[in-house]
Amino acid sequence: MKMKLAIAALLVAVVPTMAYADGDAVKGKKVFKKCKACHTATKEKNKVGPHLVGIIGRAAGSVEKFKYSKAMKAKAGEIGNWDEAKIKEYITNPKKFLGGKSKMTFKLKKEGQRDDVVAYLKSLAK
Ligand code: HEC
Repeated sequence: MKMKLAIAALLVAVVPTMAYADGDAVKGKKVFKKCKACHTATKEKNKVGPHLVGIIGRAAGSVEKFKYSKAMKAKAGEIGNWDEAKIKEYITNPKKFLGGKSKMTFKLKKEGQRDDVVAYLKSLAK
């Protein structure tokens, strides 16, 4: 019993910093409405932002016809391929994540919504 408690306490401590909480893709589809002004994730078509088809596992700053910010270009190599944790961190505060001015001025402040929207993006990849 004590062991179980210890494990539970450990999970509570570790999970938020890993930012790997599983979101809800159905709710995430609604959250994605906030992104839609600038992104589509179902067509390879750029809007104000680059399309997000296959974004999980895709190299940062790699949509050919999209003009990324200098900050994104400078950081893309270091970011490597987008995974769930990196996307969540990026959309929390793009400028802070890139360490320079991102062309994406939008911030998604609610952690639950970040989990959900990433779950939605993940669901599209299946
Ligand atoms: C106001 C427009 C706008 C909104 C709203 C917006 N974005 Fe963006 N997004 C951009 C732009 C512009 C870029 C390119 C950033 C750069 O070059 O610095 C971008 C880049 C990205 C990237 C990196 C893409 C790549 O090819 O490396 C991801 C991931 C992303 N956005 C996710 C989201 C998600 C998820 C949401 C909704 C929660 C969202 N964005 C909302 C404009 C927006």
